[in-house]
Amino acid sequence: MSSRTSDVLVVGGGVIGLVTAWRAAQRGLVTAVVDPEPGGGAAQVAAGMLAAVTELHYGEQTLLGLNLASARRYPDFVAELTELTGHDVGYRRCGTLAVALDADDRAHLRELHAFQLRSGLESEWLSGRECRRLEPMLAPGVRGGLRVDGDDQIDPRRLSAALVAACERAGVVFHRTWAERLSVVRERAVGVVTREGDVLGADRVVLAAGSLSGRLAGVPEDLLPPVRPVKGQVVRLTVPGQYAPFLSRTVRALVRGGHVYLVPRENGELVVGATSEELGWDTTVTAGGVYELLRDAHELMPGITELAMTETQAGLRPGSPDNAPMLGPTALDGLLLATGHFRNGVLLTPVTGDVMAHVLVTGELPDLARPFTPKRFDADLAVPSAPAPSERPA
Ligand code: GLY
Repeated sequence: MSSRTSDVLVVGGGVIGLVTAWRAAQRGLVTAVVDPEPGGGAAQVAAGMLAAVTELHYGEQTLLGLNLASARRYPDFVAELTELTGHDVGYRRCGTLAVALDADDRAHLRELHAFQLRSGLESEWLSGRECRRLEPMLAPGVRGGLRVDGDDQIDPRRLSAALVAACERAGVVFHRTWAERLSVVRERAVGVVTREGDVLGADRVVLAAGSLSGRLAGVPEDLLPPVRPVKGQVVRLTVPGQYAPFLSRTVRALVRGGHVYLVPRENGELVVGATSEELGWDTTVTAGGVYELLRDAHELMPGITELAMTETQAGLRPGSPDNAPMLGPTALDGLLLATGHFRNGVLLTPVTGDVMAHVLVTGELPDLARPFTPKRFDADLAVPSAPAPSERPA
């Protein structure tokens, strides 16, 4: 059994754990990450939409503020990361078009538009013809849509790789193994024990293990974060060079009440997503899941049948009771959370790094993050949770 000590030990090397570690190390804290595969996790599946406006949901207005704060940070965040690491993270300031296929879809989208405008967001209503003028591959049946130039995209796989490189440059130590148990001594978190039995000591432990965050042994039962896995299946298609650009921006659609999105990358990849399934830890790619995605995507853009299907995948979003993340100290000294980002992990990466570094250095959550304290779910403070989102994420 060996023992190593750091100021901050981050459990989980997905984008949230990595950005926390990177920002903490930049602030002079001796930082380590424990994860068998840093840079893995849900970001390997995620499409990478930075969709604060087009993914607005009723009941999530507080979260909207955090989402917008993170979206505003993206240009500088990407510039810094690229400058430091030399990695191109596939940041495309291409905007998003959200369209409707039938009359009910159109009515739904009109409601969303009104809600966006009431929330002070920029979103322009377009006729079906105007939508097709922007994106000629769209089906003639498109009834109208919303043009949102501020909802951009990034490639989450590239982002993960860049964050690993940034951490390495900042001196973050990677322990490539599983954290088996939190060590608690005299009612204070003091590190973790790894699967091999090594003790990784730390002044503070940040639990940032995505959907697995609620399962770390040793965390007192009443403080285990209420995170649940929400399965999302995606399909990756490839647009051959002679067809490019197939789409010039992200297209989301309501197709007879179902949601589908198509995210075109500059390298020809087209990500089609995503299901939203409450099936526990199941990550099976199912015929039904792929069928529904391709059926809806085909109705939206008949031309996709010509494209090569290069990958199918399922990942687990870390869902929380109110769909918002848990950021900052818990009631156990030395234990902090950065988890529960649900549909918005990639979007919330920059602001999460800043918030967590701030709280690790000062002991206080910055104002914009106070509503996201994990303590809002403590039994004596618990408030009713927001309604669950509809069957598929918008
Ligand atoms: N934000 C996209 C998704 O969760 O599928």
